[in-house]
Parts: sequence; structure tokens; C-alpha cells
Amino acid sequence: MIEGWTKSSWRAMPRIQMPEYPDPAALAAVEGQLAQYPPLVFAGEARALKRRLGEAAEGRAFLLQGGDCAESFAEFNADIIRDTFKVMLQMAIVLTFGAKVPVVKVGRMAGQFAKPRSAPNEVIGGLDLPSYRGDIINGFDFTAESRVPDPARMLQAYTQAAASLNLLRAFSKGGFADIHRVHNWTLGFASGENAERYRALSDRISDALDFMTAAGITGETSNAISEVDFYTSHEALLLEYEEALCRIDSTTGLPVAGSGHMIWIGDRTRQPNGAHVEFARGVQNPVGLKCGPSLSAEDLKVLMARLNPANEPGRLTLIARFGAGNAGEHLPRLIRAVKEEGAKVLWVCDPMHGNTIKSPSGYKTRPFERVLQEVCDFFAVHKAEGTIPGGVHFEMTGKDVTECTGGLRALTDEDLSDRYHTACDPRLNASQALELAFLVAEELSQRRNDLARKAAV
Ligand code: PEP
Ligand code: CO
Repeated sequence: MIEGWTKSSWRAMPRIQMPEYPDPAALAAVEGQLAQYPPLVFAGEARALKRRLGEAAEGRAFLLQGGDCAESFAEFNADIIRDTFKVMLQMAIVLTFGAKVPVVKVGRMAGQFAKPRSAPNEVIGGLDLPSYRGDIINGFDFTAESRVPDPARMLQAYTQAAASLNLLRAFSKGGFADIHRVHNWTLGFASGENAERYRALSDRISDALDFMTAAGITGETSNAISEVDFYTSHEALLLEYEEALCRIDSTTGLPVAGSGHMIWIGDRTRQPNGAHVEFARGVQNPVGLKCGPSLSAEDLKVLMARLNPANEPGRLTLIARFGAGNAGEHLPRLIRAVKEEGAKVLWVCDPMHGNTIKSPSGYKTRPFERVLQEVCDFFAVHKAEGTIPGGVHFEMTGKDVTECTGGLRALTDEDLSDRYHTACDPRLNASQALELAFLVAEELSQRRNDLARKAAV
């Protein structure tokens, strides 16, 4: 057990971005109930993910983390989960082909409900109400009643996360993710250049599989071919919920967050002495830390020491989200801080959260070109610093939404109103997600060639 830590020690620290529940008795009742419920994940799975992330930190694997900005109670059904899962599988195949290393698949799914907000209030037409903070906290409807934090929402979030995870486990292990089905992961509306590229790639994979089977190299029943490991993650923002699902792992005797395999700390709640860092430091799950432009090298050093005192590989993932054109200014100074401490971290690029703008039509959007640009910046800085770009973190969906502008299908500002469904930040649609995967695969294969060339001289 980490010194001075208990699952409630965060309560003594300053907290921000968390709701004030008007009815403390109702809150306590929900916490008591959740504390009785089974955890959603098993500690051994969280440890397995940590090992895989440790491999990614050394360039022997690559992390693909993606899903909704905010899961919602209204947009919840099997098709939505299946389609996001399909896009993740497609992206993972494309990345595996480019990187020639295993891709570790982690969804922003089955628990990604709580949202930090830039403003505590929202004003529409003169009406001033508390901001929406995610379905686990309050309602999206713009009414005073809906915006009151309601602890009972935690129970619904738990139930939805359990059902989502159950389906994801079935998809991962039940035959759906069998690589022989690589053609079937395409979505109905997929057309155009990305879809063509994916089809060509899946033809090559099918050919290779047929060849391997014919040559007796592998059977149809090999687990690596018929199953995938799929993990879940979310921002551990609502600490009453996290504490209630915290359990002691019977194998190690250490606490584990039972709400998901990996948790992360948001860019707004990473104060070294704040409640969120306090909670995360005591659980043994892999932990992500969002690193935005305001993160100082000094704070990063303190955070690394607090969150990963044993310098355990795979424990800490640094998720860079600076905005297109800004990585050159911020990433090198943070990479230097990591080098100075000799810290083992996994560097991941989130090209979404630094690139959110308000479009002239009033929608919150992200220009796809800027998303691509930030990914390229990230790879370029790591190349210059001789460090390892170990993964990517996206907000995306399997639905054919119109939330980010640009991409090969050239969504314009006027298109945004067509299918703008997100409860929070704009997500890449399946076509844009695939386009991004091809770009990342090119960067990765370029990197492999560079390394091979260096090794040869
Ligand atoms: C998010 O990942 O949805 C988010 C709010 O990110 P950040 O903390 O990096 O702004
Ligand atoms: Co977001």
C-alpha cells in the first residue's frame, strides 16, 4: 500500500471540477450501494494492460486509445458499441501493418461519463444554468431541474458500463474479432479512398492467412488470430464513484480501481496536491496524465514522482495535447524533464483536445487538418529528441457523424448541422478515423525504416 494513502484520502485534498450534491444522504446511499457491487474489471487485467503499455513505452507495441468524448445514456445500444469497436479493429489492423508491432487496444468506453468543463455555467438566451458535466453527474437538457447533480446517475452509469463491457468482452473473444473477418469490420456507409485502401489491405491479410493455413503454419484456432484483448479507460473525474468501486486485489493485496482497466487524469485536474492525483497515486492500474501547454517541467517531475514512485514500466502514460503547431514549443521541454528524472513513461499523442474551435456556424468543431498536423508534429519532435512515440488517443465513433470538418470527404462548416450528435466534444467519424490511422501507420513505418537504416550503419 502506498504510504499515507487510503481510497478516501483524496477527500482531504482540494478538489475541482466535481459536483456539489445537494442531498448528502442520497449521495451516501448510492456510494454504499456501489461499494457492494462487483468491480467491472479484474486487477489481473489491469496488470496485463500495464505490461503491454510498458512494451509500448519501449517501442515494442503501440497504443491505440479511442472512443467517445462522453458516453451518454440516450445514445446507448449494441450497434453503437459494435460500430466503434469495428472502427477500432480497422484502425488497429492498419496500424499493425505500418508499425509491425502489436497494437494495444483501449476504448474510451464502458465508463467514460464524467466531463470537466471550461466554464461552470452555460448561458443560453439569457438563461444562466450550471454546465452539463456528463450523464453520470447531471442531464444534458437545458433546464434547471436537469442540471442538478443527481447521485442516482452513478448507478445508471455503472449498469451501462457493465453492459457495454459485457458486449465488448463478447465481441473480443467470441469470434467477431477473428482476423479472418477483417473484411466484415467495414461499416455500411464506408466508401471512397480510405475504404478502398482498407479493402486492399484486408485482401492482402486474407491472402496471407490463406497462405499460412495452406502451409500449415497456423491453424484457424490460434488465439492470436481468433481473439483480441480489448481494454477500457476513462477519466477518473468523479471521485465518489471511483472510490466506491475501488477494491483490494486479492493477488497483490494492493488497491485497484474497479471502474475500468486504465484511468486518466485530465488536463484541468492534474494539480500535484489535488484530489485527482491523490486518488490515482494509490491504485495499481495504469494511469494516464493529460499534458497540455500549461504543464510546467517542474510539475511534471513532481507528478511523475507521485504517480510512479517505483518507476514501473507501463504505469504512467503521458498524453500530449498541445494543439497543432504547439508541440515544438512544449513537448521538448517535457521530454527533457522525463530524461532528467530517468522516468519510464509512455508518450501518446491526443490531437483532439488542443484543436477545438467554435465554427462560424456556432458548432464546436475540430478541423481535421489540424488533427493530422498535431500527429505529424508529435512524431517529428520524438524523432528529433530520439524518444519513442508510443501511441495515439482519439475521440471517434463508428457512426457517420459530421462533427469535425475536413477529411477526404471534405466536410464543411455547413455540413456540421447534418449529423452532429456528440454530447460533448466533436468526434472523428469512421472515415476520418481510418484516414488518421493510415497517416499514423505511414509515420510508424517511416520510423521503422529510419531505425533500420541507423542500425545498418
Ligand atoms: C477529454 O479527454 O475528454 C478531455 C476533457 O481532455 P483534456 O483533459 O485533455 O482536456
Ligand atoms: Co473530449
